[in-house]
Amino acid sequence: MRNFKFELAELLSDKITGLSQDEIVAMIEVPTNTAMGDYAFPCFKLAKELRKAPPIIAKELAQSIGQIEFITEVQSVNAYVNFFLDKKLLVKEVLNKVLTEGENYGIASTKDKGNIVIDYSSPNIAKPFHIGHLRSTVIGNSLYRIFEALGHNCIGINHLGDWGTQFGKLIVAYKKYSSKEEIEQKGISELLRIYVLFHDEAKENPEMDQEARDYFTRMEKGDAEALDLWRWFKEVSLNEFERVYNMLGVTFDSYHGEAFYNDKMDASIRELEDKGLIEISEGAKIVRLDDENMAPCLITKKDGSSLYATRDIAAAKYRKENYDFKKCIYVTALQQNLHFAQWFKVIEKLEYDWSKDLVHVPFGMVSMDGGKLSTRSGNVIFLEDILKDAVDKTRSIIEEKNPQLPNKEEVAQKVGIGAVIFDDMYNNIIKDIQFSWERVLNFDGETGPYVQYTHARACSVIKKSGLDLENVPHFSIDYSVISDNATVGIIKELAEFDEVIQAAAANYEPSYIARYAVDLAQAFNKFYHDNPILVEDENIKNSRLAVVIATKYALKNTLYLLGIEAPVQM
Ligand code: ARG
Repeated sequence: MRNFKFELAELLSDKITGLSQDEIVAMIEVPTNTAMGDYAFPCFKLAKELRKAPPIIAKELAQSIGQIEFITEVQSVNAYVNFFLDKKLLVKEVLNKVLTEGENYGIASTKDKGNIVIDYSSPNIAKPFHIGHLRSTVIGNSLYRIFEALGHNCIGINHLGDWGTQFGKLIVAYKKYSSKEEIEQKGISELLRIYVLFHDEAKENPEMDQEARDYFTRMEKGDAEALDLWRWFKEVSLNEFERVYNMLGVTFDSYHGEAFYNDKMDASIRELEDKGLIEISEGAKIVRLDDENMAPCLITKKDGSSLYATRDIAAAKYRKENYDFKKCIYVTALQQNLHFAQWFKVIEKLEYDWSKDLVHVPFGMVSMDGGKLSTRSGNVIFLEDILKDAVDKTRSIIEEKNPQLPNKEEVAQKVGIGAVIFDDMYNNIIKDIQFSWERVLNFDGETGPYVQYTHARACSVIKKSGLDLENVPHFSIDYSVISDNATVGIIKELAEFDEVIQAAAANYEPSYIARYAVDLAQAFNKFYHDNPILVEDENIKNSRLAVVIATKYALKNTLYLLGIEAPVQM
């Protein structure tokens, strides 16, 4: 597709000395008021060099510009030169591109841009999968799709928290308070019950803590009984996590969790020692980060056991060796900022040039409104309850508004869960979220259901026209009948898609996609409101239908990039 902004900058760079084409591209604005043109070039910066007032520069510049093939009018207004694009040409360029790419609009078909590892979700075994893990899961999944859309090959890793002293505690608690049957029956909620019980009782009986530590040491030494129990607890937990992943439609390429690095940490520790980075402090091994104004990174405790950071260091090396990543991205809560800053520094001190490719993507907290989100299963797999509630609430909205809808259950699932996912990523991810059902499930707001509804509306027009949704033919388009403001509005939005995906990737911000989805939906609804589509005149009908079809592809793919389904009817 032609990039008119770029072409304009090239032409302007001939007229303006001292500014490069790239600088001009960066200066060109897109006026929100279309009466001010499609592009505006501000002349303030030139005043000093030309020793003239900006409005005079603008006037002279406007006059010096001759005919430009894709520009219908040039005006100077105050310090700006405004350019009006040839609308027919614009519509033609954009529609051609979108309709040619079709279902794949915005999504690369090749994966030749190198590997990107994304570490997301990563819940802790035998502990609840809470709303923070939901954020990591959906953000990570979206980043995965965004980078793949740009032609990278992504490797999604669920870095399970499946190692540590909590397993010693769990073993002691299991022997004291539970049974095989109870765990098989109740799953994680039973694991959590006995874990809490252990903590309460260990406050009175500190010897229980010692017992737990002993069990963990046995695990570390390879004791079969302890490891069998550990494996079983892990399996029980994973089965339940899997239910949530299925609801969300999220998958992983690897489940290598912390335990996987048990036999890989010694080599990392030795390397740190060989490179003279380790210092012994009260029996513990640490890497000092004084120069970086950070607390030291703890590598081993006094008793020789490893830590969270030790496993992350070993894991990063393993990933570099096995995936030769261009980037390795970690999606976790903001609270882990220091942890990542510390061990990223350690990798840098080891003089691995790929330390610059390690990226922490932190996100804010979610809090719940008015305690209305009661949990049926006593705080366990809290998240599953939220997702189920979202589906229940959507089901009743459908019953009320559209009881005749076919596949009601399927649509309720897609819309309810999509609503929760969308809300999670609508704002910059660093921001805290105050969860509110009213906002999440609002079909008219800036929400997932609104975008999905707009997509379904586009599908329904296409279907009513008699075209096959799955197999849309190319037909001749008369560009002169689709150059009104509302059409140009949606066309301009469509043209932005590639740039939005790139910006979302560069900033690790799925929210750019979510915001864009809403802009696209709003522009489409305006187009739809202003332009009746299924009219008698075949020429007009087909030309407008082409816009509908193009929008449908784009809306579906924005939702896809967020990890949200797009039902054809709702
Ligand atoms: N299990 C950790 C938690 O729940 C998140 C792990 C993130 N990934 C990592 N490589 N440290 O907080």
